[in-house]
Amino acid sequence: MASGNWYDSAIEGVLLDITGVLYNSTDEGGVPIPGSIEAVKRLKASGVRVRFCTNETQCTRQQLVDKLQRLGFELSVPEVFAPAPAACQLLKARGLTPHLLVYPGVLPEFEAFDLGAKPTCVVVGDAADIFNYETMNNTFRKLLEMDPPVLISMGVGKYYRHGGELMLDVGPFTKALEYAVRCEAIVVGKPDRNFFLGALQDMGVQPQNAIMVGDDIVNDVGGAQKCGLKGLQVRTGKFRPSDEHHPEVRPDGFVENLAHAVDLLLQHRKK
Ligand SMILES: *[C@@H]1O[C@H](CO)[C@@H](O)[C@H](O)[C@H]1NC(C)=O
Ligand SMILES: *[C@@H]1O[C@H](CO)[C@@H](O)[C@H](O)[C@H]1NC(C)=O
Ligand SMILES: *[C@@H]1O[C@H](CO)[C@@H](O)[C@H](O)[C@H]1NC(C)=O
Ligand SMILES: [Mg+2]
Repeated sequence: MASGNWYDSAIEGVLLDITGVLYNSTDEGGVPIPGSIEAVKRLKASGVRVRFCTNETQCTRQQLVDKLQRLGFELSVPEVFAPAPAACQLLKARGLTPHLLVYPGVLPEFEAFDLGAKPTCVVVGDAADIFNYETMNNTFRKLLEMDPPVLISMGVGKYYRHGGELMLDVGPFTKALEYAVRCEAIVVGKPDRNFFLGALQDMGVQPQNAIMVGDDIVNDVGGAQKCGLKGLQVRTGKFRPSDEHHPEVRPDGFVENLAHAVDLLLQHRKK
């Protein structure tokens, strides 16, 4: 277990992962994790700054916010940091035209780009059942036509939990493309440093005064710790008991769920 209390420090900003922390995703949309709706409200009312950092790449931020609002959460699009807008920023900065291997729901985020033009990079997201031999083979060929191949991966999650089952995330597909064309993907989204720092900058909070709450021990907790934030692991979502003895990441703390985290944080704030 972690030494010291993660909640003793002067926490001014909290980054919240969404899936597995606020709600469980299911085929029907989702089920709020008990206490999480209230926890977000209490946190915001206390004056702590809050941003939501998700690796969700199957839909637009607007669709995600609409879904969460329907479930009862209070949040808005500018508070959400997601990989697709981060990828778009990178494409614009480098003047790249993408070939997209993504889930159709996220396409509107890329409407600024000419998808009919000859691609100068590949952007891959959690394309779910769009991943198959044909789409992978096609994307592989697009990469081979570039010199050098430019591969941008929206997150590198290994797997996630959906409707009670673990499912492959984008990471294994990115690794297959890297292997095939011998390149290294540029990662946008968690656990990339710029992703966490962008959210902190938006809140105006320094890393040492911030904490990331997540269910993914490597990408949420470990990723945030590498940027100087504290990383708090919830025992919801994709948490597994083996995370308590993870070979690489030692969270600053473990909590049962988000509500438990907010209880501790607010009890010890400014004392
Ligand atoms: C969310 O999913 C986890 C893991 O499958 C499960 O233990 C938990 O009971 C679920 N919570 C809700 C509210 O569905
Ligand atoms: C894979 O790509 C090759 C071209 O490199 C093509 O001939 C073949 O039809 C593709 N296979 C599938 C199943 O798409
Ligand atoms: C990645 O996204 C899935 C849903 O698309 C989610 O369940 C999972 O927790 C996310 N992983 C991280 C590191 O946030
Ligand atoms: Mg998660």
